[in-house]
Amino acid sequence: MTSGGDAPGMNAAIRAVTRSAIYNGMKVKGIYRGYKGLITGEIEEFKTQNVSNIIQRGGTILKTARCMEFKTPEGRKLAYETLQKEEIDALVAIGGDGTLTGARIFAQEFNYPVVGLPGTIDNDLFGTDVTIGYDTALNTIMECVDKIRDTASSHDRLFFIEVMGRDAGFLALNGALASGAEAAIIPEISKEKDQLSDMIEFGLRTSKNSSIVLVAESEVTGGAIGAAERVKKEYPNFDVRVTILGHLQRGGSPSAQDRIMATRMGVAAIDALLEDQRNVMIGIQNEQIVYVPFSKAIRNEKPINRDLLNILRISSI
Ligand code: F6P
Repeated sequence: MTSGGDAPGMNAAIRAVTRSAIYNGMKVKGIYRGYKGLITGEIEEFKTQNVSNIIQRGGTILKTARCMEFKTPEGRKLAYETLQKEEIDALVAIGGDGTLTGARIFAQEFNYPVVGLPGTIDNDLFGTDVTIGYDTALNTIMECVDKIRDTASSHDRLFFIEVMGRDAGFLALNGALASGAEAAIIPEISKEKDQLSDMIEFGLRTSKNSSIVLVAESEVTGGAIGAAERVKKEYPNFDVRVTILGHLQRGGSPSAQDRIMATRMGVAAIDALLEDQRNVMIGIQNEQIVYVPFSKAIRNEKPINRDLLNILRISSI
């Protein structure tokens, strides 16, 4: 089952889970539309052919949804009844923070084995160096910023580009490093200090005619529109523009890294079930597969590498 926001590489994970389970003599069923399909019984048996020719495709062939009903005890009871009716003995849930939070509550309530795979472009799950979809989204951001730079430099403009990430700044910070942007405004730092004020004080344009600042979407950062409005007040002469990259960051064919990682994690999910592991998320730390208890993966705030901010500042003077 895939749930929550789709992420490139989810199909590679579905393929690996299906084939590894069949390889190990299990039967596999695909649950459509996340927890919603689990409640309504939108379920189909999967053979190896069901997952042919999908490793290169973005999105998720199982579809996905954000399901409010699963947040209620009544909804979860219906989901449990579906699993019993379908004779499903264990669940592999692929998704982000919301998906794994739901999985954790469900697993505890019904003493049911669930293994999670981190599928989100946000990279905000603790206990894994990267999540499925993050690398592809980062590459998409990099390509978009490269294009915006062409027009920004032609017009001597200052661009604020908003990227996704929910409450995390991984995409903004590493997107800025990869695209040679001048700065990144991210929630982790904005909580502590006014990054935009610092930037204005430091001099927004010391040596350049055009600049690009990546802003992580979040109430804490105020988003790209908020940043642009403030700068326009202080520097009315600046030619400021805003681009919000939005959902295009979630689409596209997954990168090699996402395909490989999703495949490794998918196989590991079946290994975990065979080892009687339950209520863990599969993670990757220093290239090694690890099992991370749900409680750790979703409760802890994953720290950003603060050295990267300094590297960004040095490399963009
Ligand atoms: O969690 C993935 C994500 O793309 C976030 O970066 C973003 O805040 C959110 O989902 C958008 O959700 P939706 O597709 O429901 O608008």
